[in-house]
Amino acid sequence: MKATPNLLLLWGTSLLSHTTSAFVIDNNNHYQQQPLIVDDASISPLQISTSSAANDGPSYRKNLLSLHKSLIEIPSISRTEQEVGKFLLDYLRNNLGYAAKAQFLESDKTSHGSDGDDHSQGRFNVLAWPSSHNLSSPRVLVTSHIDVVPPFIPYHINTPEGSDQVTSDTFISGRGSVDAKASVAAQIVAVEELIRAKEVDPADLMLLFVVGEEISGDGMKTFSAAYNDQDADKSNNNNNKKELPRLHFNAAIYGEPTENKLSCGHKGHAGGLLKAQGIAGHSGYPWLFKSATEVLVKALAKIISADLGSSERYGNTTVNIGTIAGGVAANVIPKEAQAKLAIRVAVGNQTTGANIVREAVDKILKETDAEAFTMEWNGGYGPVECNCDVDGFETMVASYGTDVPNFEGDHVSYLYGPGTILVAHGDDEGLKVGDLETAVEGYKTLIKHALAA
Ligand SMILES: *[C@@H]1O[C@H](CO)[C@@H](O)[C@H](O)[C@H]1NC(C)=O
Ligand SMILES: *[C@@H]1O[C@H](CO)[C@@H](O)[C@H](O)[C@H]1NC(C)=O
Ligand SMILES: *[C@@H]1O[C@H](CO)[C@@H](O)[C@H](O)[C@H]1NC(C)=O
Repeated sequence: MKATPNLLLLWGTSLLSHTTSAFVIDNNNHYQQQPLIVDDASISPLQISTSSAANDGPSYRKNLLSLHKSLIEIPSISRTEQEVGKFLLDYLRNNLGYAAKAQFLESDKTSHGSDGDDHSQGRFNVLAWPSSHNLSSPRVLVTSHIDVVPPFIPYHINTPEGSDQVTSDTFISGRGSVDAKASVAAQIVAVEELIRAKEVDPADLMLLFVVGEEISGDGMKTFSAAYNDQDADKSNNNNNKKELPRLHFNAAIYGEPTENKLSCGHKGHAGGLLKAQGIAGHSGYPWLFKSATEVLVKALAKIISADLGSSERYGNTTVNIGTIAGGVAANVIPKEAQAKLAIRVAVGNQTTGANIVREAVDKILKETDAEAFTMEWNGGYGPVECNCDVDGFETMVASYGTDVPNFEGDHVSYLYGPGTILVAHGDDEGLKVGDLETAVEGYKTLIKHALAA
């Protein structure tokens, strides 16, 4: 998922009480398990969790943890997902016997690195279907993303010194351990468990692991353009289109960190670059010139205190001023200033929400100074609704963006996955083994629910 730090805090305040109380941070900045209540002070927390629950795992624990570990150990920062993609293709084909296919993206000409290489060369989504027959009409898409945010953080499993004993309380950390390689691993195991138990018809399911979710959503957009049967005219120059039929799903299940709660949707997004134009001059004579920083600061102050709309389901629209820059020296009235904004939209619907917020911001800019500003909006969408009406799940609403709006069509969307957003992009990204296993069961329930609908 994509998120900005201040929004994480806003969204998280109501969750903090039960997500952090069981952890402390050690000297190396790692989370450590602590039982909520330790009755006997002579017994260390670690001894309690290992001795009392040595055989508490489901039969798939070993496979699940091994897959999760392999995924995390392969770096896959957005635009460099190829190695993890190759691993998944191999795993799905050779370990599980699925049909799997790489869907290549058109080369992204804008993503040249500082060394001049096009790092997007050869990027691909992984499509797979658990079936010996040819893909014809899978009804449910199970999907997540394989790219992660920087920097790479190595895999670590917090087993007791000199032991590899794992319990459901064992903590696993590393980049992607939550967002979203936890979802990827749990989804694959859930599908495999359902097939093994003959609880589903394998031909009904398709797996999709996309690249680029943390940047532009280019992976999911490419999939949607090529295969979605309601998006047909967008794919004329797509070189993947002949190999598979167009698909129409009844439901798509998206894996993102929701603490194993079923998300009722998430806020929308409107972002852009706000530029202010002034007139340079000597700082002793401000009345003769025009300060771009001053006018920018005034407008930003109004924007962050304005009511940009709210709704019962999604709460308030919130604004992050992500960067701010301007001026050349203390004694020069600044000619230019700019700020980058990321606004999380809580009003309107997916189609209208971003526009409602853009118009409100444009009005503030006009009222502040009709000449000084240009606002370059990029993309944007309103709140994204997901189905959270499934028995047995706690529900939540997310303040981060996902690939849900990037896959067009009239399918029902479910958003669910292990781990908390509050650590997802941070140095302490990690989760408990039990969270991963709960997610396998959650995905199984959701897949069966979606197939029964
Ligand atoms: C799958 O498609 C290929 C090529 O069209 C065909 O040769 C093969 O018989 C099909 N397999 C099944 C199980 O339908
Ligand atoms: C939303 O904004 C209103 C007024 O600005 C404030 O009173 C309220 O506490 C905010 N709600 C949340 C959930 O932050
Ligand atoms: C969004 O809201 C607009 C205006 O209220 C309405 O015309 C449109 O049908 C809605 N779209 C969806 C997808 O609900």
